[in-house]
Amino acid sequence: MSASSKRFLPVVVVAAMVAAASGAVEFAYNGFGGAGLSLDGTATVTPAGLLQLTNDTNMSKGHAFHPDPVKFHRPMLSSFSTTFVFAIVSEFLDLSTSGFAFLVAPTTDLSTAMPQQYLGMFNGTDNGDARNHVFAVELDTVRNPEFADINNNHVGVDVNSLNSTVAAPAGYFDDGGGGAFHNLSLISREPMQVWVDYDAATTEVTVAMAPARQPRPRRPLISTRNINLSTVITDTAYVGFSSASSIVLVKHYVLGWSFALDGAAPALDYDKLPKLPRIGPKPRSKALTVALPIATTVSVLAAVALGFVLLRRRRRYAELREDWEVEFGPHRFAYKDLYDGTGGFRDKRLLGAGGFGRVYKGVLPGSGTYVAVKKVSHESRQGMKEFVAEVASIGRLRHRNLVPLLGYCRREGELLLVYDYMLNGSLDKHLHCHGDKPVLAWAQRVHIVRGVAAGLLYMHEDWEKVVIHRDIKASNVLVDGEMNGRLGDFGLARLYDHGTDPQTTHVVGTMGYLAPELVRTGKATTLSDVFAFGSFLLEVACGRRPIEEEEDDSAATVGVGIGDRFVLVDWVLGHWRKGSIAGAVDARLGLEYDVAEADLVLRLGLACLHPSPAARPTMRQVTQYLDGSAPLPELPPSYLTLDMSAGMERNQSLFNSWFVWRPSSRATTSVATMSDVALSGGR
Ligand SMILES: *[C@@H]1O[C@H](CO)[C@@H](O)[C@H](O)[C@H]1NC(C)=O
Ligand SMILES: *[C@@H]1O[C@H](CO)[C@@H](O)[C@H](O)[C@H]1NC(C)=O
Ligand SMILES: *[C@@H]1O[C@H](CO)[C@@H](O)[C@H](O)[C@H]1NC(C)=O
Ligand SMILES: *[C@@H]1O[C@H](CO)[C@@H](O)[C@H](O)[C@H]1NC(C)=O
Ligand SMILES: *[C@@H]1O[C@H](CO)[C@@H](O)[C@H](O)[C@H]1NC(C)=O
Ligand SMILES: *[C@@H]1O[C@H](CO)[C@@H](O)[C@H](O)[C@H]1NC(C)=O
Repeated sequence: MSASSKRFLPVVVVAAMVAAASGAVEFAYNGFGGAGLSLDGTATVTPAGLLQLTNDTNMSKGHAFHPDPVKFHRPMLSSFSTTFVFAIVSEFLDLSTSGFAFLVAPTTDLSTAMPQQYLGMFNGTDNGDARNHVFAVELDTVRNPEFADINNNHVGVDVNSLNSTVAAPAGYFDDGGGGAFHNLSLISREPMQVWVDYDAATTEVTVAMAPARQPRPRRPLISTRNINLSTVITDTAYVGFSSASSIVLVKHYVLGWSFALDGAAPALDYDKLPKLPRIGPKPRSKALTVALPIATTVSVLAAVALGFVLLRRRRRYAELREDWEVEFGPHRFAYKDLYDGTGGFRDKRLLGAGGFGRVYKGVLPGSGTYVAVKKVSHESRQGMKEFVAEVASIGRLRHRNLVPLLGYCRREGELLLVYDYMLNGSLDKHLHCHGDKPVLAWAQRVHIVRGVAAGLLYMHEDWEKVVIHRDIKASNVLVDGEMNGRLGDFGLARLYDHGTDPQTTHVVGTMGYLAPELVRTGKATTLSDVFAFGSFLLEVACGRRPIEEEEDDSAATVGVGIGDRFVLVDWVLGHWRKGSIAGAVDARLGLEYDVAEADLVLRLGLACLHPSPAARPTMRQVTQYLDGSAPLPELPPSYLTLDMSAGMERNQSLFNSWFVWRPSSRATTSVATMSDVALSGGR
């Protein structure tokens, strides 16, 4: 193609070079404003010029294609080259849903393709079908065993199939002497550049990637021969991107893209690429820390230091207060009181920390009451009003088996919740701390379980409104001075629901306690609470967590099959089938437990864990069974054949297509849970 046959299209943000008549042979977009891409589904070009492939619409997909078809066979298949800068921005840094792909397809109509793990490219029936005529390079953030994915952070070369022909963990090789390999996390929110080249003469596909602004690594990530695309790519075909979205807030962005036939893809101009939207808290002003080293004279240093001190004084007690909060006045704590009461949130006062917050022990000035203050970072104003209304309302829940929520305080980007301090800390520590503590006696366990059941029944049925807890687990059960079990942290899960798109909800909770229908529909009900309570029952009786990662830490590839995990429900079910369910009781108790009670608690746990919500008992029935006022019916014979693991596996693969999760600690796997923090840790 001669240079004279090219014309330049002056476009606002983009300089796209488009060849006449025969279709595009070379183009470059530094931002997509005015690019006229052919978009469908959730794909849009933002005002800033970013190509956003997905938004948080449940089960949808997005495609973006260069508007003109490319004539690939002239008459033989041409070599081609493309490069793009992308970023995957997830609201939660360790959560992601599927990924996206660069693709060459015979048509822009991918309406029969499916979302989720199919990346909007294929569906359950046509995966692997040679009639697809699709070549793609996938950037996949979920390990789908059904496509033999290598891990949850990989780059793959796909020919007509999501089963990649070749795949490699995302990363790049250093150009330096050592040629060391550096991992890149696709969901790190950081922009990264990918280069894909196809050499028709040698049938070689090369893929390289690097953090944005770094030069193309000399050694590619993938280089593979014998991928003859002549019969794969059609005579004319479309080039573009495909992605699938889901209910989790993950957005796939392309910042810039270039493509060329028979030549290297034009370089992208980083300075012209649109900026990604900021996510998370505002970076703190670095002015002070930068100014300090520059300041050379003592006087400047002193002035800055003085200014700093004054500023800190002012900022230290700053709160966020809005007009609508007046009515919640009685539940509002002054930040200064909480700050002073916890010794300035000193580490020494830290009772626990988890993904979403830290809990400090404090004492209220004046009354001298001991409290646990939970700091939850929360940027979004959206939903805050509803949440505070709920705090005020939940603050009126009074039951001896619930941890009283005393009130709240708000600061920029931060919410503080004030609870009664529980002398004996979280049950989690009593159950899972090996070593120093004596084993929690069976009678105490049963007492705690009965208490929690009573607290939950009150929330579900006996209070003026139905309150769903949403995150029942041992670490959310606190033990008071009299060894009563008390449920804490109710309602917190809602905050994250409110904070998002009202039509969609996060699935919030903890893996192993999530009812199958909850993962499927996103709707929490009293019966999904009962499911979690079932898991809790088994956890307390057996002293083991619902799902335990096996010791060998192939952490990168968790979130897959259930094969390499210990699944408590299966283990208990196994004992039940052998006719010795009580054998599942915590071995550390030796013979120090009541066999009949153990039989009851464990069978009740299994009953609560029924995959079908309608088959689970209500909390009213649960309490009756526990206190012996009604006999627990025998588990139906269907349990003999019921494959909970398969149910969980289905649940899991559904789950996998939405999330990638990583163990937050070696033992628990938390998913978007903000309440895995012990409220109290007194020993
Ligand atoms: C996501 O994209 C779809 C399709 O364009 C649109 O209908 C929907 O409003 C978008 N949702 C959000 C939250 O932007
Ligand atoms: C899958 O896609 C093919 C086209 O590639 C279409 O013919 C088929 O009907 C689709 N199957 C389903 C189940 O949507
Ligand atoms: C993809 O890989 C899975 C798992 O190895 C296998 O069962 C399936 O048949 C493969 N599909 C295709 C189309 O190759
Ligand atoms: C690729 O396949 C086509 C059609 O089967 C064949 O004509 C061509 O020679 C092959 N190319 C190479 C480099 O083997
Ligand atoms: C997401 O879509 C699936 C399938 O259409 C549906 O069953 C589920 O209820 C939806 N989830 C949410 C939270 O809307
Ligand atoms: C890259 O990640 C993998 C999997 O997490 C790990 O095994 C490997 O050691 C990492 N490599 C480097 C260089 O960090």
